[in-house]
Amino acid sequence: MKKLTVLCLILLLAGSMVFAQGAQEGGKKFIGLAMPETHVERWQMDGAALQAAAIELGYEAEVAYGDADQTKQNAQISDFITKGADLLIIGSVNEGVLSAVADARRDGVEVIAYDRLITGSDQYDYYITFDNFKVGQFQGGAIVKALQLDKATTANPKYITLFAGSPTDNNAFFFFDGAMSELRPFVEKGVLKIVGPAPLSSKDTANFTRIATENWRADLAKQRMENLLNGDAKNYKLDAVLAPNDTLARAIIEALLTDAKYINAIPVVTGQDGELASIQFIKDGKQAMTVFKDTRDLAKAAIKLADAILKGEAPVIAGARLDTETYDTGKKVVKSYLLEPVNVTKDNYVQVMIDSGYYKADQIR
Ligand code: BGC
Repeated sequence: MKKLTVLCLILLLAGSMVFAQGAQEGGKKFIGLAMPETHVERWQMDGAALQAAAIELGYEAEVAYGDADQTKQNAQISDFITKGADLLIIGSVNEGVLSAVADARRDGVEVIAYDRLITGSDQYDYYITFDNFKVGQFQGGAIVKALQLDKATTANPKYITLFAGSPTDNNAFFFFDGAMSELRPFVEKGVLKIVGPAPLSSKDTANFTRIATENWRADLAKQRMENLLNGDAKNYKLDAVLAPNDTLARAIIEALLTDAKYINAIPVVTGQDGELASIQFIKDGKQAMTVFKDTRDLAKAAIKLADAILKGEAPVIAGARLDTETYDTGKKVVKSYLLEPVNVTKDNYVQVMIDSGYYKADQIR
């Protein structure tokens, strides 16, 4: 009996070793794709597009989703390393990913930070994302335009409430600061009044934390909007809500629609990601805009970058701007490739989201 168990163990071990080396043995290099979560729709698109692009360039590739749990994602990364990954593309959950990135470097596995900067690390060299400050500028700019803030007066100011993304996601600061770069002049002029906590920059940590949404959780955003409606915003009629992405925008809109004041007069609510349900909301006049970041393009560009790194070539990433100054992890400035986001409204959603083949026309009613 004992002998049999030992034999089984040996066989199992041998099997896993073959698997660990399998990627290299077959002549194909192996790319591990660690995505942070699935509750925000885009990441499933990212995962699928990354895998398809990697396979197209002749790589083996596997995707794992961390369910917004860094411990889980670290285990997935460690699994990729054990399986003999040559390179990892990581959309991290939070800074807890550092130990996994250090393990990768120790084992000579390259890491590309995907969409989200991995802060606090000097153990990787490359970052690929969209211009996230511009995402925020589109959101802030949409509010300026819709509320005609350039014509607003102190006697008749407009009212806004602010939401931000996860305080553990570096992108959340960029989105917010981009939006506030558009809105701040009007707040300072006194024609735009902030209802509730009022950070004018993400550097106002105490107030930023109050408007931030841990792990981009829709239930938390909805709850906070409900609390505002019964609290700070009770005696105002809001003209706009700055929402950082579509998942949170819809949760906020849901809360607004429970208040009689807003049923026929929804404030201008911003978004991001071009999620299908939000495109429907935009068509129906419930959500004002979204910012589309074509995950197909980001995925393709990331795999091109991976390919160049693995071949020891200088990366040439069409459609991306190389930035070697802005993205400081706190330990080093990483080479960053930035793609262009697109502002989407009722006027151009058909062209941007459907004509481009991202969605099919019959997916929108
Ligand atoms: C991404 C957004 C996304 C958010 C929540 C951010 O890091 O850039 O596209 O909406 O995470 O998943």
